[in-house]
Amino acid sequence: MDIQSLNVSGKTVLVRVDFNVPVKDKNVTDTTRIEAAKPTIDYLLEQGAAVILMSHRGRPKGEYDEGFSMEPVRQAAEKVLGKEIIPMFSERVVDDHVVAMARNLKPGDIGLLENLRFRNEEKKNDPAFAKELASLADCYVNDAFGTAHRAHASNVGIVKELPSALGFLMGKEVKVLSELLNNPKRPFIAILGGAKVSDKIAVIEHLIDVCDGVLIVGAMANTFLLSEGKNMGASLVEEGEVERAKMLVEKAEAKGVKLLLPTDLVVAKGIDAPETAHTVSADAIGADEMALDIGEDTVRRYGDVLKTAKSVVWNGPAGVFETKPFDKGTVALAECLGALDGEVVIGGGDSAAAITQSGLAHKMSHISSGGGASLEFLEGESLPAIQAIEGV
Ligand code: 3PG
Repeated sequence: MDIQSLNVSGKTVLVRVDFNVPVKDKNVTDTTRIEAAKPTIDYLLEQGAAVILMSHRGRPKGEYDEGFSMEPVRQAAEKVLGKEIIPMFSERVVDDHVVAMARNLKPGDIGLLENLRFRNEEKKNDPAFAKELASLADCYVNDAFGTAHRAHASNVGIVKELPSALGFLMGKEVKVLSELLNNPKRPFIAILGGAKVSDKIAVIEHLIDVCDGVLIVGAMANTFLLSEGKNMGASLVEEGEVERAKMLVEKAEAKGVKLLLPTDLVVAKGIDAPETAHTVSADAIGADEMALDIGEDTVRRYGDVLKTAKSVVWNGPAGVFETKPFDKGTVALAECLGALDGEVVIGGGDSAAAITQSGLAHKMSHISSGGGASLEFLEGESLPAIQAIEGV
C-alpha cells in the first residue's frame, strides 16, 4: 500500500527509519539519512498523526549497550526536523513505561524508541517482538531503505500486525533503481569498484546482463588484472577469485558488453606512505608496491566512455579515497559524471561518502541512502522489507 492510502489522521504511526548514522564522540557526523526520512515524517504530522520513530544503530550484541544508544541521533534529528523528539527509551526497547508513553502521544508529537538491536529478537524476526512493537501504534510505515535487505522484526515481522505502507524515501529509491535496471536510457554504463570481487560478483553478473559497458575500478580491479597475468606486486588481490574474474570477462565479451580494466595505477609502498605514491602502467608494478588508485590514463579512457552514456550507475570508489592523494581517481570520475547530461545514480555507503567528499553530490540525479540494500537491488534481488509490504 502507498502511504497516501493509509488513513493516519488522529492515529499513532510507527515509522521504521534507517538512522544508522555515523557518530563520533556522541555527535552525529552525517545527517543525510535523517534528512532523507523528513518528507515522510513531515507528511504524517501534517495529516494529524503522532509518530513513533524506530531504528537500529550499529551492531550491538542483542542487549543494552550505552555506546549504541539512540540519544545522539535523537538530538541530531531534533535539529533536522526542527521539532522536539520525545525519548521513549527503555533498555528493553518496549516495556510498560514505553507503552504508556505511546498512549499519551498527541497528534503532532514525535517519539523515538531506543536502538532496536538492544533486543536479539529484532534480527531473528521474532513474531513476539514484532507484536510488542505493534502494540505501540495503529499503523506502520517503512521508510528504511538502507535496511530493506534485512528481514527483521521491525521491517518484516511487523507487517503482519498492522496496516502497513512504504514511505516516500522507499518509494523514490525503488522507482529510481527499478527504472534504471528495467528501462535504462542507453548507453547504460556501470562503474564498479570496492575492495573485493567476491562481494560484488552477483552485481557484476547482473549488470553485464543489463548494461552496455562496465568500468572496473578500486582494489577489485587488481584481481581482474591478476587474472590477465599481470604482476600486482604487494596489491590487495583475491587469488581464489581469479577464475571467476576470467569468467566475468568472458561473459561480457560473449554479450558484446565493454568491460574495461585500468591501464595505469597509482601505487605506493603502503596506504600510510603517501609520499611514495606515483603512477605506473598496470604492467610495471614493483614487487613492494601496492595499487591504491586508478591513474590518469585510466581516468581519461573511462571518461571517454562515460561521455557517451545516457545513464550511469556507480558502486564502489576508484581508490582509497579517504587518504590523499589516493582520492584523485574517485574525484576525477565524479567530475566526469557531474558534467554528464544523463541520469547518474550513485549506490549508498562508500560510494555516497566518496561523492559527498568530492563536493559534487548536488550534480548527481540520485544518491541511494542504502549501501548493502542498493547493492542487493543491483543484483536483481527483491528486498525482503519491500516484498513484505508490496508482495513483490
Ligand atoms: C546500513 O548501514 O547498511 C544499514 O543500516 C544496515 O546495517 P547492517 O549492515 O548492520 O544490517
